[in-house]
Amino acid sequence: MSIETSEKPVVNRAKFATGLGVLTATLGSAVGLGNIWKFPYLAGSNGGAAFLLVYIVCMLLIGIPVMISELTMGRAARSNAIATMQKLAPKKQPWWLIGAAGVISAFLIMAFYSEVAAWVFAYIFKAIQGGILSTDPEVTTGAFNGLVTNPGSSLIWQWIDLAVVGFIILLGVNKGIEGATKRLMPILLALLILVGVRSITLPGAGEGLEFLFKPDFSKLTAATFLVAMGLAFFKLSVGMGTMITYGSYFRDDQDIPGTAIRVAFSDLAVSLLAGIAIFPAVFAFGYEPNSGPSLLFLTIPSVFASMPLGNFFMVIFFLLTAIASIGAQISLVEVPVAFLEEKFNMSRKMATLTTIIGIALFGSLAALSSSTLADVKVFGMTFFDLFDYTTSNILLPLGGLFIAIFISWVWGYKKIENAISNNGSLSNQRVIKILYWSLLVVTPILITIVLLNGLKIIQ
Ligand code: PFF
Repeated sequence: MSIETSEKPVVNRAKFATGLGVLTATLGSAVGLGNIWKFPYLAGSNGGAAFLLVYIVCMLLIGIPVMISELTMGRAARSNAIATMQKLAPKKQPWWLIGAAGVISAFLIMAFYSEVAAWVFAYIFKAIQGGILSTDPEVTTGAFNGLVTNPGSSLIWQWIDLAVVGFIILLGVNKGIEGATKRLMPILLALLILVGVRSITLPGAGEGLEFLFKPDFSKLTAATFLVAMGLAFFKLSVGMGTMITYGSYFRDDQDIPGTAIRVAFSDLAVSLLAGIAIFPAVFAFGYEPNSGPSLLFLTIPSVFASMPLGNFFMVIFFLLTAIASIGAQISLVEVPVAFLEEKFNMSRKMATLTTIIGIALFGSLAALSSSTLADVKVFGMTFFDLFDYTTSNILLPLGGLFIAIFISWVWGYKKIENAISNNGSLSNQRVIKILYWSLLVVTPILITIVLLNGLKIIQ
């Protein structure tokens, strides 16, 4: 089915036909550049295995409970994020602000996410031309820097990416994209496994695996916890209402906790595979694990350079990464589009165009962050870093915090129980109890502590 987020009367609202459809659509939003680009570079800059462990704890105690909450609320209200909060909250209480913050988050994430997708698009093209296949850090670093320091190509590739995303939404072929993602995801996995196998058989690869899997807890700081928690939100697309919208399409008999857990673990598997593909290569070829956002674009060409048919596989690799990124971007763009349609009564076409043009304008600040605007810093960060930091480390955790508080304190146990057990037809009482207590106490307290500590409000 196609994901259409405009507000519809309950009876007309489309639903996913099958459980598998639900799983792949939800996974389509979760899996993206977060796994292949962001996870490896954050793990690389924050101490490797110790970071991975903290990330997994955040996923279990924060990410999954918030995801279940969003899906449950969306299904109960069968509306987009803002309208869901309005429907479920007591009159006159401003819980809809969570939805409004989500619209801003989606916009800010798209501003920098579309630029990373732009680099992926540019790399497909560069790979086809054959100039970047090299194990020499000087060559690969030169190629990446050449791209990001060029304002023209940074902007043009971003516009190409946004045009592709906009066209897919406008043509209403989301259905096609979901179908394609379903078929292409296994190929991306197979390719990641292939790259991983090559990477771990490189001379000196052991050091990379040790970096990723042997924790050194002395590397953990308050900032590490904040970044790991931010990644858990970003990865699972939660804290901003995306999953509320997806939940609104779930069938009444869909097992929400089971789906959320499956999505989270499949998503983790993709991130781990990306890590296994990248870290051995980091050490084998002498890159710095803390190279930052360039890490993927430096190491992957080096692994492919050490493989038969490397250039061919590299083209496919970046192509599939681009497709995975488009699935995630569609779910992001849907948030402001649904809002504009609903709030200003815009047609879907108008709402999509407005959103895409807005992102292109605002996104140019992120696109030019390594060139024209490299010296413009806000709170010591370029626009690219600022958009990334404020969404993952502030807005999404705050969204998650209020969602957890809302569902457990305001909505309450009885409603959660009815909604998640499908009015008693699923026997998942134990899961519901654990979830309820987690949302009531554990999740909000953890988010608050990590936020206050990580932002240095308390030390
Ligand atoms: N989860 C996506 C990724 O990891 O690439 C990014 C994302 C998509 C974040 C949708 C938030 C969202 F609402």
